[in-house]
Amino acid sequence: MLRGNNIPKAEGKLGILLPGMGAVTTTFIAGVESVSRGLHTPVGSLTQLGTIRLGKRTEDKSPMIKDFVSLAGLKDIVFGGWDIFEEDMYTAAKNSGVLKNEDLEPIKDFLSAIKPMKAVFDKNYIKNIEGSWVKEADSKYELGEALRQDIRDFKEKNNLDRIVIVWAASTEAYIKSGDVHASLDSFEKGLKESDPDIAPSMIYAWAALKEGVPFANGAPNLTTDIPALYELAEKEKVPISGKDFKTGQTFIKTIIAPGLKARLLGLNGWFSTNILGNRDGEVLDDPASFKTKEESKLSVLEYILQPDKHPELYKDFYHKVRINYYPPRGDDKEGWDNIDIFGWMGYPMQIKIDFLCRDSILAAPIVLDLALFMDLAKRAGMSGIQEWLSFYYKSPITAPGLYPEHDLFIQQAKLKNTLRYMMEEEQITHLGIEYYENE
Ligand SMILES: NC(=O)c1ccc[n+]([C@@H]2O[C@H](COP(=O)([O-])OP(=O)(O)OC[C@H]3O[C@@H](n4cnc5c(N)ncnc54)[C@H](O)[C@@H]3O)[C@@H](O)[C@H]2O)c1
Repeated sequence: MLRGNNIPKAEGKLGILLPGMGAVTTTFIAGVESVSRGLHTPVGSLTQLGTIRLGKRTEDKSPMIKDFVSLAGLKDIVFGGWDIFEEDMYTAAKNSGVLKNEDLEPIKDFLSAIKPMKAVFDKNYIKNIEGSWVKEADSKYELGEALRQDIRDFKEKNNLDRIVIVWAASTEAYIKSGDVHASLDSFEKGLKESDPDIAPSMIYAWAALKEGVPFANGAPNLTTDIPALYELAEKEKVPISGKDFKTGQTFIKTIIAPGLKARLLGLNGWFSTNILGNRDGEVLDDPASFKTKEESKLSVLEYILQPDKHPELYKDFYHKVRINYYPPRGDDKEGWDNIDIFGWMGYPMQIKIDFLCRDSILAAPIVLDLALFMDLAKRAGMSGIQEWLSFYYKSPITAPGLYPEHDLFIQQAKLKNTLRYMMEEEQITHLGIEYYENE
């Protein structure tokens, strides 16, 4: 790994390719373009608005993160991607119904010029939608080769220096890591034989890694979270990260639960339900896709509360997560949480949360940060699983044998300490005893 001034600067142009150009992607692209034209502030983005403390509190040194590490500038980004629908980014943004006309019209020409490439799609993995803008080939291997060609063509056509890929396509059906995913050899053999256990997202990830392109996964599907692709990422020296953008209800959960745990308050039950009416909601209405999402959402509390260490507080808490497709709401989701807790002498209390959130508005800055940090990681020679980016994910990928860290504030400390480490700055431990010692 390179550190400090040895990390090459983010010079030239960065391509961000997104498989899946629906609500999240269009909101992300429109937002970045609006920000770089000075029309909006990049609210929610750590890379654009965040600061990082360096040295002692008395030194009062907190530069902007984007001044502390070298990140691609917003004007140096070129966008592209793949979708099963042919429509350009202006039409797709209109159809997604997230952004208002007054925000889309000023950048209409820019958005209209971005058109998806043909997707790799498999109906067995996503049941509730069907599109015609899809690649045909004799094997999954050939589909992967076609994606590799797309990546190379995109780079050449746009005169790019570097590319990153962020998966923002629909959630695929639930599968477990199996034999075909166990090693790179078995995976590549499986590609040639079109093994049914190789999902489209894995083909995109394979193509990216073969091209030396970092791959971040915003959905809960396994994708790079299999031994075969860890192996490929290490072999090609490419960073990977995932899974599932941490927005909405799980974001709030990973703020509240560490607080309860910190004060050792008990939990009897946590019921979370949502209504949403966008295409994501429609896909998640299929039980196989919902199962992938459910797994991702459920594990969070177990890891934060550590029931094995505190059986008297968390042994049998009841945790239920529901997602209900309700078209009238479109992208304006509503998530309710009912939390049954107990305190001193076992006395019960309740917390109710009603979060009227906008999914894509929360996800867009995450896409930006992930793309810029994954590009930084690549330049710094960091390869394989990037656990320091857990901050952005509901189901962070970790090295085999390590449990994932879900507490948002530990994740934040990990991220910032990684940036300090990269730039050869001291770690911040928050000990602070030196301020009170006289010698
Ligand atoms: N918005 C959030 O807060 C949030 C949070 C966590 C995860 N996610 C995940 O991000 C993803 C995108 O969410 P969205 O709201 O933009 O959904 P969306 O339905 O608006 O967009 C997804 C797009 O992916 C396309 N697609 C499906 N399969 C594809 C394939 N194989 N190749 C290329 N394109 C394909 C669809 O046609 C669609 O246009 C979903 O998986 C969602 O679960 C979103």
